[in-house]
Amino acid sequence: METNRREFLKLSGLAGMSLAGAGLLQGFTADEATASYFAEKNAAQRFNMCGYAAPKLDKVRIGFIGLGNRGPAAVTRMTHIEGVEIKGLCDLRPEKLQLVNKKLAGTAHQPVLYGKTEDDWKKMCERDDIDLVYIATPWNLHTPMAVYAMNHGKHVCVEVPAATTIDECWQLVKASESTKKHCMMLENNCYGFFEMLTLSMARQGFFGEIVHCEGAYIHNLLAGHFSKEKYWNLWRLKENIGRNGNLYPTHGLGPVAQVMNINRGDKMEYLTSVSSNDFMMNDLAKKLAANDAFYKPYVDKAYRGNMNTTTIRTSKGRTIMIQHDVTSPRPKSTIQLISGTKATAQGDPLPNRLAIGDKWASAEEFKALQEQYNPPLVKKIGDKAKKYGGHGGMDFFMDWRTIDCLRNGLPLDQDVYDAALWSAIGPLSEWSVAHRSNSIDVPDFTAGSWKTNKPVDISLESGGTTRII
Ligand SMILES: NC(=O)c1ccc[n+]([C@@H]2O[C@H](COP(=O)([O-])OP(=O)(O)OC[C@H]3O[C@@H](n4cnc5c(N)ncnc54)[C@H](O)[C@@H]3O)[C@@H](O)[C@H]2O)c1
Repeated sequence: METNRREFLKLSGLAGMSLAGAGLLQGFTADEATASYFAEKNAAQRFNMCGYAAPKLDKVRIGFIGLGNRGPAAVTRMTHIEGVEIKGLCDLRPEKLQLVNKKLAGTAHQPVLYGKTEDDWKKMCERDDIDLVYIATPWNLHTPMAVYAMNHGKHVCVEVPAATTIDECWQLVKASESTKKHCMMLENNCYGFFEMLTLSMARQGFFGEIVHCEGAYIHNLLAGHFSKEKYWNLWRLKENIGRNGNLYPTHGLGPVAQVMNINRGDKMEYLTSVSSNDFMMNDLAKKLAANDAFYKPYVDKAYRGNMNTTTIRTSKGRTIMIQHDVTSPRPKSTIQLISGTKATAQGDPLPNRLAIGDKWASAEEFKALQEQYNPPLVKKIGDKAKKYGGHGGMDFFMDWRTIDCLRNGLPLDQDVYDAALWSAIGPLSEWSVAHRSNSIDVPDFTAGSWKTNKPVDISLESGGTTRII
């Protein structure tokens, strides 16, 4: 029992919390401690950030942190959006900083450069002429950076997952509620063409009652994880050592959570999670180490089991299955299955498919349904999103929509409760895997407001005024 308690504290990030909080865990079993901990946290919503509209910003002045694989394209996309001013760029690696800065030469954007020390990003967050901090750094830096930025009066866009422990999830909620600053996790998969089509269909009752959804992040990144160049300081490989569960749940989960109105009419109750063993990462570490001493420290580590499967039950008695596998040699898939009482959709493996009844629609029928149900955002800027791109256009949809909401004083599509909940599946799955797939309650980050929170507004009846340059 004592081991359980210690493991729970470690896995959920509670180990470092104050004794006032940890005190209530004394003498409880892990399960009782979990329940008490969640109950205590749930009692205190400071302000409901769901549906919150911050004051309009005519200009959105942005500071970017993290210019590795992901950050630079976000900077470029933002240059095509009216009202954006790029005021700061930050990365520890001067060559990455210069590369992005050079691209902005001769434009109206004159960013100040940061990154001389590991903490230099704080100076950028402390400026009073920046509205939004856009974070694309390794996972362990997401919450510290987001919280610091909010506490210094900035809205935040933060890459996925926004947090890696339950404690970090609560830190985000607390910072967003107490500062009334948006904390938007950059879950770009919510803006895929198929995902937006199916969200619009769900809203119009196409699927009937949605009973079950599936999502995944299945993407072979094995070689990349061990590459000396691909990720800064091999941070992504290191995340896969000593953590066992679904470390990257949000791409598969975000779109289906929106389709099911999670946090806005339904809520996740509990989950169970199971992981396979590792059959690939240690093998590759050994092979590489045989010829290159650099890899010796990576041999015989506690690598994450290659395939993780997590199942979630909601308050309304619906279910979600989420998978995570970044090492197997198989085609990329986010699954995106929506199964309702009237109809079904499946995003991956391609082609995207829809079925009314037991038979998949033909290509012609699919096209007709697409024309009937495509949401206003796709109709309005779909061509431009394809042109300016990022994962087929979803990244541009996301950035444009976020800026347009900020400029028109509208709620953002994803709030801090979504960021916290979707990210929380990571540490909760770790706990379940470590406990023979026992179930664990999912915290209610909305503190009960899920019962009355309104679904994400996809009507585009307000806003939509921001030009694409
Ligand atoms: N949504 C998506 O589709 C998608 C795709 C790729 C990556 N991502 C996410 O984007 C994030 C970044 O991934 P990446 O592939 O670009 O990683 P990366 O390693 O290429 O880039 C991270 C950058 O952060 C910088 N950095 C590290 N510590 C810093 C500090 N203290 N101050 C300033 N800069 C610092 C590094 O120098 C590096 O350039 C991750 O969270 C990842 O999950 C999301």
